[in-house]
Order: sequence, then C-alpha cells, then structure tokens
Amino acid sequence: MNLTEFIEGHRDQHLTELCEFLRIPSVSAKTEHKPDIEKAARWVADKLRSAGFKTVEVVPTNLHPLVYAESLEAPGKPTVLFYGHYDVQPAEPLHLWTSPAFEPTVRNGNLFGRGTADDKGQVHIHLKALESLQTVDGKFPVNVKVLIEGEEEVGSVSLWDYVQKNKEKLKADALIVSDTSMLAKGVPSITYGLRGLDYYQIELTGPAHDLHSGVYGGAVPNPLTILTELFAKLHDKNFRVTIPGFYDDVAKVPAAERKALNALPWKQKDFEKAVGAPGYVGEKGFTRVEQLWIRPTFELNGIWGGYMGEGAKTVIPAKAYAKFSTRLVPNQDPHKIAKLVEKHIRKLLPKTVTCKFDVLSTGKPWTAPFHAPIFAKAQAALEKGFGKKAVFIREGGSIPFVTQMYDTFKVPCVLIGFGLPDENAHAPDEHIALENYFGGIKAISYFYAGLATL
Ligand code: BES
Ligand code: MN
Ligand code: MN
Repeated sequence: MNLTEFIEGHRDQHLTELCEFLRIPSVSAKTEHKPDIEKAARWVADKLRSAGFKTVEVVPTNLHPLVYAESLEAPGKPTVLFYGHYDVQPAEPLHLWTSPAFEPTVRNGNLFGRGTADDKGQVHIHLKALESLQTVDGKFPVNVKVLIEGEEEVGSVSLWDYVQKNKEKLKADALIVSDTSMLAKGVPSITYGLRGLDYYQIELTGPAHDLHSGVYGGAVPNPLTILTELFAKLHDKNFRVTIPGFYDDVAKVPAAERKALNALPWKQKDFEKAVGAPGYVGEKGFTRVEQLWIRPTFELNGIWGGYMGEGAKTVIPAKAYAKFSTRLVPNQDPHKIAKLVEKHIRKLLPKTVTCKFDVLSTGKPWTAPFHAPIFAKAQAALEKGFGKKAVFIREGGSIPFVTQMYDTFKVPCVLIGFGLPDENAHAPDEHIALENYFGGIKAISYFYAGLATL
C-alpha cells in the first residue's frame, strides 16, 4: 500500500483518535486542570511511541511538563525539530458553545471542540503523518526530534530555560511548526512572520475601601473613571498608539514586501464575516493586512472593578483593574517597550490614585527570509496535498518558541498552518475544517518524505 492510500484508508481511525485527545481538558491557565495537563502529556508520549519513536520523555518543568521525542536513525539525512503545544485556552464562556467544548462533534464538515485548530488538531496531523510514514516504509525518512509543550497558551514560561539547557539536544537543521492559519480555505500557506507580545496588568487604588457613592460621590477620586480616562488617551484619532517612542524602532517594511502581502488573495469580505462588527478601525496609512501583520498595536484585554453582580449597588470602588497587551513587530524590543508603556501610564495617571504595574510576559516578534531549499519542499508538499500552490504570509499572532529557536540556532523555521482565521481559536465553537485536517496529514507526510532529498 502506498502512503496516500494508507492515509486515506485510516481517516476514521485518525479522527476517532483525535477526539480522544480533544476530550482531555488540558487548560494550562487553570490549576484545577493540572491532572488533565499531565494526562495530555502522557497521551502525547504514548502516541509518539506508537508512531515509532523509541526515545520519548515526559519532562517535568516548574509549571507543566513538556514532551520530547527523537528518532535519529537516518544517517546522512537532515534532522528536523517539530514543535507544537498540547495545552489549550480556557473554554469559558461555556454557554456560548453549540456543543460542549470538550465533547468533540462534527457538524457541516468541521470538527468542533477546544483545541481542534489551536493546537491539538494540528499536532495530531504531524503525529499521524509520521506514524503513516513509519508504517508504510518501516522507518522515518529523516531524523526527527519532537517537542510538544504544555505552556504555550500561558506564555511558554518554562521553555526558555529548557532550550538553554538542552541546546545540543534540540539542535536541528530546521524547525517545523503547525500552529498558525491558512490565508483562506483552499489556500495553503507558509507563515514567515509573527508579532511579538508583551502582556500587562495594572491595579489602581483610590480610597482605602469601597465607599457609599451618595455619601462620598463628587468629592473623591473614582479609580474606575480614572482607568477609563487613561485608556481613552492611548490611541489618537488616526488609531495610532500615543505612547512616546512606541514606533521608534519599527523596521521599515520594504515596498516590494508590502506589495507582495497586499497582492495575496486576502478577502476583506471574509475578514468582516469572521469579525462581525458594525464597523472597522485601524491605523491610518496602512491596509488591513498591514494593520494585522506588520504594525504594532496596543489592546485592552480586560477591565474590571466595582460592582458587577445582579441589580444595582451604589458604590465607589477602592480599586480598578485592567489587563492589556502590546503586539510587537521587528525591531521593537519587548523590554524597552514595556518600560515605555509603564513610564507613560504612570505619567498620565493623576496623583489621586496609586498604581501597581505588572508585566506578565514578554515575547519578541519574528520574521525570517524564506529562500532556504526547505521552503520549496514545503511548497511542493502542500501543492501535492491541497492541489494548489502555497502562498507566503505573515500573521499577527505570537508563538514564543519560534523566536527562541530562531534566535538560538538561526535555522529555517517552517510554519505550515492548517487552521483558518474564522475557526474561533480562543473563543466558543472553535473548530477545524476536516478537509484541512485530513489534507494536512497527507501534505505533512509528503513534506517529511521530501526532506530525505533536501
Ligand atoms: N497558535 C497561536 C498563535 C497564532 C495564532 C499564530 C494564529 C498565528 C496565527 C498561539 O497558540 C497563541 O494563541 N499565542 C498567543 C501568545 C501566547 C504568549 C499566549 C497569542 O498570540 O496571543
Ligand atoms: Mn497555538
Ligand atoms: Mn493559542
């Protein structure tokens, strides 16, 4: 039996097994899911063993275990490192899911469930591609190292330390990742740029305790009002971030690259359908694609304080809180940006409140040239799997490990995504198109096979 026939013949088994993976609620952000995280790590390790890896380790870290495997039995052939994550985002708000987040369900050619697109479904594509190669050929075509972590959705906090301590072990000729999106359905895509991410939280304190808003209102500072005034000042009318120095180090994107990005078959209509807002905003002077991929942003992610329960409570809260983030592009330095953000916020705040300012995580942006021969191999494999030529795109999301790996080893990083921008990653009703899941297994198996002659 040839590879394609084998994969076609195992669709049902592959899907059933993916559903088993998706039923483990491996939410990295919540302590109550620690046992599920451990279970998911063991599950991945088991599947790597059945795919043909003889060396498989579940490595404990300060937070969640990572899974490492290797098969170095192809002398003279290249060595690749495949990276993915088995952790998922929290499923809340639960009532907005059509079918429960951890009970995977097929509807209209899509598989619904937390982690289907980000990233369990995409990790499973590689597990099954490698297993298929092993079964059909009796061996892997190249040397393969695998690193599947459990902390990506909380900023890959333990990973940096692991990479620094295991440089020799992780060394490879290329990094392969499937944790991104395709530009659109039917358009296989290779991502050559990601934004970086700094994540912050602030706590403003005014009165020593909550106050009756009738007895005291009008004569005391309200931390919630001050917080909203603060955030209203951080963008101007052209939707530019007003923090001094924020744009200073932004690298100019060459005209030819901007032209290529703007010529991609990216559809405004699809974008608006996925977003569903009554109107759109974005930094003046840049196209939508540029706003999403090559420009830095400041986003408010959560804001709370005061009374949020049922009915009314007349209170002036003692405290107000916000979570917010900056997406970064080359050559912004995450630490420098965090300092600028803190300095400006402290300057804008009145003396009537005190401010506790925390930087929860930082991550560098990444872009890299894509002329190494491995990119042509990836394109050929995607074309064979999807019947269409792959395009090269940048994306707005962040994957801390890609930058760490690129900075450490300077090797080509090949990001082949099988998600779609409207598949609700991080949101209710996350799903993956079955045609991309099944097509992905084929394309990725052709890709690994093709690397034997790199
Ligand atoms: N897979 C995403 C990143 C992504 C999504 C890249 C879409 C390109 C296109 C990843 O799991 C993710 O969500 N990353 C976080 C960053 C992390 C530090 C929490 C993000 O981008 O917000
Ligand atoms: Mn992901
Ligand atoms: Mn994610």
